[in-house]
Amino acid sequence: MTLAATGHLLGALGVCATITVCTLYVADSTAQSQQGQPQTESHASPIYGITIPAGYRDWRLISVARLAGNNLKQLRAQLGNDIAIKAFRDGTLPFPDGTIIAALHWNEVSSDENDKVLASGFPGAGLQSSVAGSAANVQFMVKDSKMYAATAGWGFADFKNGRPGDEALHKTCFPCHQPAKDRDFVFTRYAPTP
Ligand code: HEC
Repeated sequence: MTLAATGHLLGALGVCATITVCTLYVADSTAQSQQGQPQTESHASPIYGITIPAGYRDWRLISVARLAGNNLKQLRAQLGNDIAIKAFRDGTLPFPDGTIIAALHWNEVSSDENDKVLASGFPGAGLQSSVAGSAANVQFMVKDSKMYAATAGWGFADFKNGRPGDEALHKTCFPCHQPAKDRDFVFTRYAPTP
């Protein structure tokens, strides 16, 4: 083999090796994004690293709330995982590690459909019905006294359309929950059963 031919062969091998490595790399990153988990950062709340807990929509009801202001009308539900519900019912304070409280927020919309039915069923009562419209956001408080020691054992997370809010937003959570310090930084009280 001439010197030139050897050069060509080595060159070709080099290109081959590069292509193989590139192909493997592309295949690997495609596989990762196909699993829907390309990067943890984009799914977890800043500061606290909390992702949306699986199955939270099936948790039990702690209470409901309504929030109305100049540019905002929301209906809200607070749900708890099993540890949270037990602690609320037993009046356990502070909440034990493993407690997760979810706060689901919807834009409140009035329901003409319901109003019509109510007007005919209860004439003159002036009943006005409003219901949960589009989802606004969902927030979580996660108790882990070791991991979140700096914030009294609570980690915070806020998601809109499945995406976490930014760091600036997450810096506001703990300070604003200070007034509820006597109830372990939780405002919501367990709603009595009708
Ligand atoms: C301006 C003050 C304020 C800020 C900022 C704030 N919260 Fe709250 N939070 C409240 C109040 C008041 C309630 C109870 C009333 C309600 O649900 O609207 C509450 C309720 C909650 C609840 C239900 C449990 C409870 O304490 O009643 C969760 C979960 C929650 N907030 C998470 C968060 C997260 C996560 C952040 C940051 C992204 C945050 N909060 C920022 C004031 C605040």
